Amino acid sequence: MNRKYRKTIIAGNWKMNKTPTETKEFMTALKGMMPRGRWCDVALCVPAVCIPAAVRAMRETRVGIGAENCNANPSGAYTGEIATNMLVDAGCKYVIIGHSERRAMGETDADVNAKVIAALDAGLIPIMCCGETLEQRETGITSEWIAMQIKAGLQNVPEEKIRKVVIAYEPIWAIGTGRTATPEQAQEVCESIRTVVRKLYSSKVARAVSILYGGSMNEKNAYELLAQPDIDGGLIGGASLVPEKFVKIIESANQPAE
Ligand code: PGA
Repeated sequence: MNRKYRKTIIAGNWKMNKTPTETKEFMTALKGMMPRGRWCDVALCVPAVCIPAAVRAMRETRVGIGAENCNANPSGAYTGEIATNMLVDAGCKYVIIGHSERRAMGETDADVNAKVIAALDAGLIPIMCCGETLEQRETGITSEWIAMQIKAGLQNVPEEKIRKVVIAYEPIWAIGTGRTATPEQAQEVCESIRTVVRKLYSSKVARAVSILYGGSMNEKNAYELLAQPDIDGGLIGGASLVPEKFVKIIESANQPAE
């Protein structure tokens, strides 16, 4: 991370876990143990029905609440979908877009791009995910694949808005498997993502964009991952479901500024 040029962000992704009642319990516990220092931004992306409980519980705190998906259309006949202005009105600050679990359900790069644009237009901070499969890594095409995902996801995103985009690198083989990328592997890809952003926009923009790592990040490996120069935070699944673990990861981001 590099606090001089960009934000450090610790974001939780609850996936399909916790009821609204459990959300209230979690948030109450988290509030009681949140570190006082402000060395990083903290976000919790929760299931849609848990958003009101999460927002209510964290109103007076520095924890921003987010959604795990959105629809790119402003309104209309899309049964079961949720528009970005609904998320804003419900109190969301963030939205995860293009998580590999959603891509596995059929979400394309074009969908991801449309959602990123819709989120930015609504004033949300999109956390745009990318990542390679184990097969792609073993074939040696990781950086090309990731570059393609980033270029497609950011298409037509203007320079004045790109600064609000957060990118999350999540190797699919590391998600929920307990098999974390080594700090060197994660750094290498996050650095290559910054290079892609530099080529698409400018050095100034690339320096300011926060790039997170996700995939079995936990209270034990967070410090070392976050110590890498191009890893500006984490997108945390399993370990974000336990307040004690999540707080330890937040504390791991308290490292000497460069
Ligand atoms: P994990 O999930 O931390 O449980 O591996 C990360 C994610 O999918 O965002």
